Amino acid sequence: VSTVEATPFEQVMVAGGPGVRALMDDVERLLERIASGYGPELGDGAGATLAAGGKRLRPLLVFICGGVGTGDPASRGALLHAGAAVELVHMASLVHDDVVDNASLRRGRPTVYAASGRAPATATGDFLFSRAFALLEGDARTGQVRTLADACLALARGELAQRADAFDMGIDADRYLHRCELKTASLFAAACRLGALAGGTGDEEALQLFGRRVGLAFQLLDDVLDVAGDPARTGKQRGSDLLDGTVTLPLILAARSDPELAKLDLHSLQSREEAEAICNRIAATGALSETRRRADELVNAAKDELDGALPKETAALLNLVADRVIDRYS
Ligand code: IPE
Ligand code: IPE
Ligand code: MG
Ligand code: MG
Repeated sequence: VSTVEATPFEQVMVAGGPGVRALMDDVERLLERIASGYGPELGDGAGATLAAGGKRLRPLLVFICGGVGTGDPASRGALLHAGAAVELVHMASLVHDDVVDNASLRRGRPTVYAASGRAPATATGDFLFSRAFALLEGDARTGQVRTLADACLALARGELAQRADAFDMGIDADRYLHRCELKTASLFAAACRLGALAGGTGDEEALQLFGRRVGLAFQLLDDVLDVAGDPARTGKQRGSDLLDGTVTLPLILAARSDPELAKLDLHSLQSREEAEAICNRIAATGALSETRRRADELVNAAKDELDGALPKETAALLNLVADRVIDRYS
């Protein structure tokens, strides 16, 4: 199986103990059952996306924030549903994002869009979104449905904002960060909040803020990988953001010191090779290390949110997740 980045959070799973590992295994089985439970038309694209792997970082956050191993064992079922629901929303957003971004490769394999076309990819995403909310049916009382629905709303706004900004070299770092908040940080925040709600740990505010900051850092680093990541590792092609007109922080920073980049017309990029040449030019300005430095700061701020607010074991595991997010990209 071509799992691109086999298990980048393996260290966290080991530290989390058998409770976390068992839930991660169960979430996988539940996702497989859901993907294959509604016939091949809806299931093929979903099953392929699932089988291609992925880091499963969001369910891991749900389980840790839910106090697995330290919390009330009675909350296990609710945590399992919450973890699977967040991963389903994530998968749905990826399948739709690949339509919007015109992407050909995801998790080292052809995207649903590339393999089957726009309509099947749209339907596959809709299917995954619907099953996410069905999983939370029994847990509505605790505010989980609203939490996940709010994250979906932010996602939709983020994708729209990204389209509105496409090809515009005038967008600044603040606007970029706002977009990242919407499209990525919101789901990380929701994962952490859902964990706290499902686990009944009562730490939702601190955990939500932690998730938001780590999620923002995560998107900054994903944007670094789009410029400089090895496709064999990321499972995605370099230069994709440039080709679909997405102006990210590396380019915004690089344009400050390279006048040729500042004058760049993204519409003029026609091929993968041209985009990769611009990627190399961005890298030559030092903009990638500056973007990584900012991600570092965000992760440190995320860790500060945990100080004194949580049981020691939970905080230690979340610190480990935050560190792994950073060193995966260094
Ligand atoms: C990709 O997320 C989309 C972003 C928010 C950057 P991941 O990098 O978590 O994707 P998978 O699930 O591991 O494939
Ligand atoms: C994150 O942005 C997409 C979603 C939150 C759906 P990207 O467009 O950068 O994600 P990748 O690089 O395609 O995974
Ligand atoms: Mg994309
Ligand atoms: Mg990306």
